[in-house]
Amino acid sequence: MADAGHTVTGNESAGAATDWRLLGRLTAYLRPYWYCFAVSVAGFGLFALGMVLLADLLQYLLDVVAGAEGGSLLQGVALSIAGDTPDRIAIPATLLALTLLRALGLFLGAFPLDYAARCVVFALRAELFDKLCVAPLAELESQDRGAQLSRMTYVTEQVTDATREAVQTVLREGLLLVGLLGYMLYLNWRLTLIVLVVAPPIALLVRWAGRRFRLHSRRVQESMAAIAQQTGDALRGQRDMRAFAASDYSKLRFARDNSDNLRESVRFALLRAVSTPVVQLLLAGGLGLMLWFALGGQLLGSFSAGALAAYLAAAVQTGKPVRQLSAVQGTLQRGLAAVEEITAQLDREEERDTGTHVVERAAGALRLDGVSFTYPGADRPALADITLAIPAGATVGIVGRSGAGKSTLVDLLLRFIAPDSGCIYLDEVPLTDYTLANLREQFALVNQSPTLFTDTIANNIAMAAPGRYGRARIEQAASAARAMPFIAQLPQGLETRLANNGEALSGGERQRLALARALLKDAPVLVIDEGTAALDADTETRFRSALAEHTRGRTTIIIAHRMATIAAADIILVMDGGRLVEQGAHPELAARSPLYQTLCRGELAAL
Ligand SMILES: Nc1ncnc2c1ncn2[C@@H]1O[C@H](COP(=O)(O)OP(=O)(O)OP(=O)(O)O)[C@@H](O)[C@H]1O
Ligand SMILES: [Mg+2]
Repeated sequence: MADAGHTVTGNESAGAATDWRLLGRLTAYLRPYWYCFAVSVAGFGLFALGMVLLADLLQYLLDVVAGAEGGSLLQGVALSIAGDTPDRIAIPATLLALTLLRALGLFLGAFPLDYAARCVVFALRAELFDKLCVAPLAELESQDRGAQLSRMTYVTEQVTDATREAVQTVLREGLLLVGLLGYMLYLNWRLTLIVLVVAPPIALLVRWAGRRFRLHSRRVQESMAAIAQQTGDALRGQRDMRAFAASDYSKLRFARDNSDNLRESVRFALLRAVSTPVVQLLLAGGLGLMLWFALGGQLLGSFSAGALAAYLAAAVQTGKPVRQLSAVQGTLQRGLAAVEEITAQLDREEERDTGTHVVERAAGALRLDGVSFTYPGADRPALADITLAIPAGATVGIVGRSGAGKSTLVDLLLRFIAPDSGCIYLDEVPLTDYTLANLREQFALVNQSPTLFTDTIANNIAMAAPGRYGRARIEQAASAARAMPFIAQLPQGLETRLANNGEALSGGERQRLALARALLKDAPVLVIDEGTAALDADTETRFRSALAEHTRGRTTIIIAHRMATIAAADIILVMDGGRLVEQGAHPELAARSPLYQTLCRGELAAL
């Protein structure tokens, strides 16, 4: 929005500096495809040559018809190549040859640029996706998902428009204009200078239009993102919306964004539609002025009728390039607005990954020393001064009311977020000393709301490494998580494809898949954030016995809402309001901790 400010206050130099910076960024992506540009320039050069020579052919034709002395370039060439060929053959043959040249030029000019532009979109998408995978989670989650989606699809395409449409127009029409003007200067330079007087007012208009375009195309983009976001919400939330009879409200909000988009795109279209006729009008004025001079007599001198016709043909033809070049600003600015949005995203910070320590397999001892964390913008800490130690191989239960900070603690362990103060150690090495990848290899996490990807169940369980695990091990993990019974009932078993985050599965089934995923990873620390909350009591009992096998030899942290799940834990941590209020074994806490007793009575359920 800062740039819209520039436009409004007329701070052109800052806007122009931004434009150059953005063009620089765009050029960096295009640089590997310089050969496409070389071919394209040559192609459009041929095209321009063909166009100019077609005007010259007109002179040739008219001179021949009028029986005048031939001053045309082509006539000279035709004479020198085949002096005795009759004009009746030479002229049609030249016409065909020039048309072929022009067509070849157009192809060679256009296709390489298209190719380069597609490659740039490919590269931008790849880079955006890479960035998505290393962006700090907190920042990622605070961003609007509709805008992120539109960036990946719509905005990257806008960049193609910049590279392809704008560059193509600049090359094609620019070279044509240069060719035509050169030819006109060659025919009659004085007359041509008069034509050039028309250029400055047009240039001024072009600049004005460009600034308006930039502002409005950005607004069009913003309103598109809002529509995508509303639609995304509606697609995900139909169940809730219908249950709460909130459809009218959502329709209202959608209608507002939709009409914003309508208003902005109509303004944009209006601007585009107005700018072209105005430029044309200026051009006609210039042409009229030129004719007035030309018909005065002194300027024409020894012009043959054929030469005048060729000159006029060339002069009239400059209209299209000038028009298109004046419109290209809009395209380019739309592209630059897109480049700006994408580069802003690409320049964002990444997760800090400065550690160098790497272990094959950690023992799994965890220690927190005075750890505090406050979410940005929150008025009270989510975790305050947590100090605790978990010996390697211990089974730890964490209980506490909803909002006590349990999931936040897990996020800290996996370095999804960093503590504001205090330090966390894995095997007495600060977490920040590990490389992020190596640290996360030491953890298998069953997330509070696990994500299932659009892929087969088997690949969802094998997750990051579909090729690494054999079918037998995947099945074994699925059985251990007690997921096999329901998987076996699916039409294609483990090969069943999931869609929409596995919405066709029940909450408990989803969580069992997530658990299978974690068990398969076989990491030294297993973290289950309410992994059993959605399981029915019977499955839960069997799950617990399975888990008992898997807790052996590894540190296990279970955040649970069921007593039975954590009663057998070596240590139970009781959290409340971001503080660690009690810790000990179940019998001990049951005897002395009032909060624990309360939690037990409510079956540890979220209160
Ligand atoms: N991304 C976030 N931004 C701001 N505040 C947050 C964020 N995530 C959690 N919080 C706040 O931090 C506190 C602790 O949340 P946390 O998710 O750790 O609780 P929890 O103990 O896991 O609760 P539950 O049992 O419901 O899962 C809550 O007050 C919550 O509102
Ligand atoms: Mg939680």
